[in-house]
Amino acid sequence: MPERFDAVDLIREKRDHGELSTEQIEWLVDAYTRGYVADEQMAAWAMAVLLNGMARREIRDLTFAMIASGERMSFTGLGKPTVDKHSTGGVGDKITLPLVPLVASFGVAVPQLSGRGLGHTGGTLDKLESISGWRASLSNDELFAQLRDVGGAICAAGAGLAPADKKLYALRDITGTVEAIPLIASSIMSKKIAEGTGALVLDVKFGSGAFMRDVEKARELARTMVELGSDAGVATSALLTDMNAPLGRAIGNANEVRESVEVLAGGGPADVVELTLALAREMLRLAGKPDADVEEALRSGRAMDSWRSLIQAQGGDPDAPLPHARETHTVTAPRSGVVARLDALAFGVAAWRLGAGRARQQDPVLHAAGIDLHAKLGDRVEKGDPLFTLSTDDPMRFERALEALERAWEIADAAPQRGALVLERIG
Ligand code: URA
Repeated sequence: MPERFDAVDLIREKRDHGELSTEQIEWLVDAYTRGYVADEQMAAWAMAVLLNGMARREIRDLTFAMIASGERMSFTGLGKPTVDKHSTGGVGDKITLPLVPLVASFGVAVPQLSGRGLGHTGGTLDKLESISGWRASLSNDELFAQLRDVGGAICAAGAGLAPADKKLYALRDITGTVEAIPLIASSIMSKKIAEGTGALVLDVKFGSGAFMRDVEKARELARTMVELGSDAGVATSALLTDMNAPLGRAIGNANEVRESVEVLAGGGPADVVELTLALAREMLRLAGKPDADVEEALRSGRAMDSWRSLIQAQGGDPDAPLPHARETHTVTAPRSGVVARLDALAFGVAAWRLGAGRARQQDPVLHAAGIDLHAKLGDRVEKGDPLFTLSTDDPMRFERALEALERAWEIADAAPQRGALVLERIG
């Protein structure tokens, strides 16, 4: 059968600020997925989108075409509401770990299909793989059974979800076209909608350690994604949250699991607790349980029981000791004062250089590598007090990690001006 359109015409149309029709977008995505449209043509089109944008209708068409490229899961047979969350990624962002069991402890199913880390932002699956025996892959049947019996599951997204996005995202990664809001929004939402969740809360971050540094851009991304969710019949809302400083005290893998367990035990750093509770309330509101007492679930140990069941259901031992690094290096305060700046991006890069993250998708991570902050933004320190400890198995890594941290922190006379962690809700 002859092809319905010519890729060059569609590239020219976008280059010249035009709009593609629904049929043209459906064809482009399908033809690219089956290899008829070449990588260089799709890259040129993606660059035209980055420069000239897309209309709201085009973004919806693109999202739906990417969903149609693969399987669409459904959990309607579970007989309970489903709700998921997606974070655009940050430094020390372990919120998924306490959040999923906390929300699941209210009888709601949470199908959290996650990824691995690339670059300075960590991956949820990498963190959980610090737990002895825990496995990230579940078949669709295993996922369904776990959601029914345990309530929450955190597992690797199967290759069958939005394969067009997988191919396009890899291409964007190497052609400088990741940062286009229509492409980010359609990429994230195509996977989340295909996953089959009934409701979705987005944690859209802004600031130095976030994908979108600028709050206005983060707001636009959030609005676009919330609209796409509504178009697809998924109740969607977003929280705009600050990612200028690392979340919590732990940045890495095993240490982030340790901190998450502290939160589930009713402790943990205030910012991690605040964001976990804010996202949990929002998820439960969308799942039809607006009066759920999330603080009580942490206090009473109910969320912890749910965590233990989740880890055990995926082969993990929640009581197994987490790995510790062979080498550590502690940086101390050169003067007395108040911690006035901790730059999230620099701490993320440093943890990555210690081995907590990977440069290529196929690289392994060092589960025990990372950074533990002894002082948080606004804390008073005396000269000689420990500020943070770097951990790794390979001492050769300290030099490059310390280089990343050279201008990343500051001790001043006065406490810094700080905005709210959760800036606003959209949707
Ligand atoms: N994460 C995604 O899944 N897609 C993007 O385009 C960016 C971040």
